[in-house]
Amino acid sequence: MILDVTEEYVDQLISIDSSSGGYPWGTRNINKVCNQKNWGAYLFLFENLPAGFIVFQRILDEASILHLAVHKGFQQRGVAKKLLHYFIEECGKRSIASVFLEVRESNLNAIKLYASFGFQEIGIRRNYYPTSEGFENGLDMAMYVN
Ligand SMILES: CC(C)(COP(=O)(O)OP(=O)(O)OC[C@H]1O[C@@H](n2cnc3c(N)ncnc32)[C@H](O)[C@@H]1OP(=O)(O)O)[C@@H](O)C(=O)NCCC(=O)NCCS
Repeated sequence: MILDVTEEYVDQLISIDSSSGGYPWGTRNINKVCNQKNWGAYLFLFENLPAGFIVFQRILDEASILHLAVHKGFQQRGVAKKLLHYFIEECGKRSIASVFLEVRESNLNAIKLYASFGFQEIGIRRNYYPTSEGFENGLDMAMYVN
């Protein structure tokens, strides 16, 4: 089941994020986004347990995926695919024309997932993300919905 959630669910988002095994987005960033306008989030419940989420911003006919994370215990069961599918379908209903995102160059699983939905690389942000050894590039990706 997918729920359209508000800031009341922020603790669940933080908990999934910190259990996703990726570079955590962090409490500060999640709280910051939840205080902005035009943000939204969908929470995936797997047998009533919070399993994954997507956080996004929609402004006029453009949307940005700000974060997508699935709890390690629920990964590789299609949760991210279902969330993305739902999000893109909702974008279509709202006449969103384009969706943008940024992803770490090393995050091949996420890049593969986005590419399978038709996202294409549109640019590179050099040394955009911190790593334990330094920095890595970010890929800008986009897909056109309508
Ligand atoms: C990336 C992430 C969201 C994928 O979530 P998930 O629910 O496990 O993904 P799904 O089960 O829906 O898999 C969808 C597709 O993603 C890719 N994928 C996901 N995990 C993968 C893995 N471990 N190995 C290879 N491909 C993988 C595959 O293309 C897969 O499709 P397929 O099964 O038909 O090959 C999850 O691994 C995660 O939370 N990672 C940490 C946070 C993160 O990196 N978020 C993205 C930030 S932009």
